[in-house]
Amino acid sequence: MMIRRIYVGLVGLLLASGALQFYFAAVGAFTRPQTDDSYALHATNGRIVFPVLAILATIAAALAKAPGKLVAFTLAPLGLLVVQVLIIVLGNIIGGSTEQRTTAVSLAILGLHAVNGAFILDVTGKVMKRARDHLSAASAAK
Ligand code: HEM
Repeated sequence: MMIRRIYVGLVGLLLASGALQFYFAAVGAFTRPQTDDSYALHATNGRIVFPVLAILATIAAALAKAPGKLVAFTLAPLGLLVVQVLIIVLGNIIGGSTEQRTTAVSLAILGLHAVNGAFILDVTGKVMKRARDHLSAASAAK
């Protein structure tokens, strides 16, 4: 029971970290002057906090004896985070010509970072719902 609560708590933190990414993206966009550090909060939360929470939540899901499908689904936000990084890498390769000028094609790719970001939040919300269902199934069985 306790471990199921911890699982739900970790997914809640993951959801909060994902939501904060949008806030930190805006903080980065409005920072003046723009420097290499403008997106420091977004990059740190995205590269460290979110993936660590995703891994901890998945371990907790396994320890909480969640069905295999739910354990795998708990890892989905991390898989989408990899896509999130790949979008930036690919967009930068294409747009990283002389003087780091973006092109229409690189911007079309980089813009997908926001779309995939919304998708990550949606999927994380669904993981939250299933984690809570798993917790209430344990309470009902008591
Ligand atoms: C409107 C939504 C978003 C915008 C506008 C946005 C924008 C950006 C920008 C401009 C960067 C580059 C930062 C830099 O140069 O250091 C970045 C990096 C990153 N973003 Fe987002 N982001 C958004 C949503 C998200 C979400 C929801 C996640 C994950 C939950 C995420 C994860 C990341 C990660 C991991 C990086 C670092 C990539 C790397 O290693 O270079 N972003 N984002």
